[in-house]
Amino acid sequence: MSNSIKFNENYPDITKSNKLYQKAIELIPCVTQTLAKGPSQFIKGVAPKYLVRGKGSHVWDVDGNEYLDYNMGIGPLSLGYAYDKVDETIKAQLKDGITFSLMHPLEVEVAELINEVVPNAESIRYSKTGADVTSAAIRVARAFTGREKILCCGYHGWHDWYISVTDRNKGIPESVKDLTFTFNYNDIQSVIDSIDSDTACVILEPFVFEEPKDNFLQKLRDVCDQNGTLLIFDEMWTGFRIALGGAQEYFGINSDLACFSKAVANGMPISILTGRKDIMQLFEKEVFFFTTFGGEALSLAAAKATINEIREKNVPAYLAKQGKKLKDGYNKIVNELEIDYTKCSGYDCRTIITFDQARSGQNPLEMKSLVQQEMIKRGILWGGFHNMSFSHSDEDIEYTLKAYRDVLPILKKAVDKQDVKSYLKGVPVEPVFRKTSNFNTKPKLKAEEVH
Ligand SMILES: Cc1ncc(COP(=O)(O)O)c(C=O)c1O
Repeated sequence: MSNSIKFNENYPDITKSNKLYQKAIELIPCVTQTLAKGPSQFIKGVAPKYLVRGKGSHVWDVDGNEYLDYNMGIGPLSLGYAYDKVDETIKAQLKDGITFSLMHPLEVEVAELINEVVPNAESIRYSKTGADVTSAAIRVARAFTGREKILCCGYHGWHDWYISVTDRNKGIPESVKDLTFTFNYNDIQSVIDSIDSDTACVILEPFVFEEPKDNFLQKLRDVCDQNGTLLIFDEMWTGFRIALGGAQEYFGINSDLACFSKAVANGMPISILTGRKDIMQLFEKEVFFFTTFGGEALSLAAAKATINEIREKNVPAYLAKQGKKLKDGYNKIVNELEIDYTKCSGYDCRTIITFDQARSGQNPLEMKSLVQQEMIKRGILWGGFHNMSFSHSDEDIEYTLKAYRDVLPILKKAVDKQDVKSYLKGVPVEPVFRKTSNFNTKPKLKAEEVH
């Protein structure tokens, strides 16, 4: 018997998931193409590994178990799985074709739409992945400023210029590593200390979970302007989610360039680079940025339908409303149980659940794994985030809070015994990068080095 979205008696049967996984181990290095979807992020032995179907906020694994999903494809499913309006548009386009030998009118139509809704979108280019457009942004920023160094904060994709600052940077030339440095969010001094006359751009997610404090984004804008450095917003998560026009609209601060993907086409692969015309016009000739599938029509059709739906239904307001119920509900249970070593935080449209080692005396990854294990048993595919979609209904929220009410006392008991590990039925989740902040920061240039 497959599990469904209820208080199931047993953990799900994942026989087929495991069989596929065994084959994949032989054939696919690291097994997954998206780290956040891979087995290292889910308690091994308990969590399903392969999904085959989705509708609204629900998904089904390869063994037939049904779950309420809060990962939503790691961001793209802003409206929900198999969302009729978008899928009908995709099907209609499919009848005419996917990829053509000349440009497609949708390239223009979607550009007009983006130009209307994204504050800095004087010019627009498309590609397929988030890393494509962050890397294009970096290249055009270097070309425009005639400078080489980059300051970044957070994750921006798999390309050399960014991954060089992480601890998974084998295969990247030292000369590339020497050009990218990190700064700390909400720490304007860390930017001031690192920025110099060779800094082409500062790239960051306008926020991840923490709110900008003390006018941080405006200060960043000012520091960049004073230094002739371009400001790039990586809006993979904020775009079309915190507001239709993303963080630029929400905070009233324009970046010189902005990068979008994820939520813009409800699951279809497309990314968008927007920005100032005087910068973006370098793509005419000097800066090369072309790819075979850049103007692929199914994804453009999906983007058009998704953006229109987000606008018509005011989806950002809905995501915030539903997300707030979950965040407040989680923290209320935490207060009642007096387990202040866990909390839910972040902007309402996308919140994170964290576990504190100092307050609990337990390993946060093990605590996360225990909650994940028990949520999965109750039919919720849970990765420590509430990535809200337009399909998360009141019933979904109520059920999720009911599940937390059942699961968090188990965590409390395990922490009280100081033995979370013994409650785990499988191998705990792993961190993605060991170093994630406050590393590879650039020492301030000595006066004689400043040119
Ligand atoms: C903030 C941010 N930037 C860039 C990327 C890279 O996007 P992609 O994985 O589509 O290349 C991601 C992916 O998760 C992201 O979260």
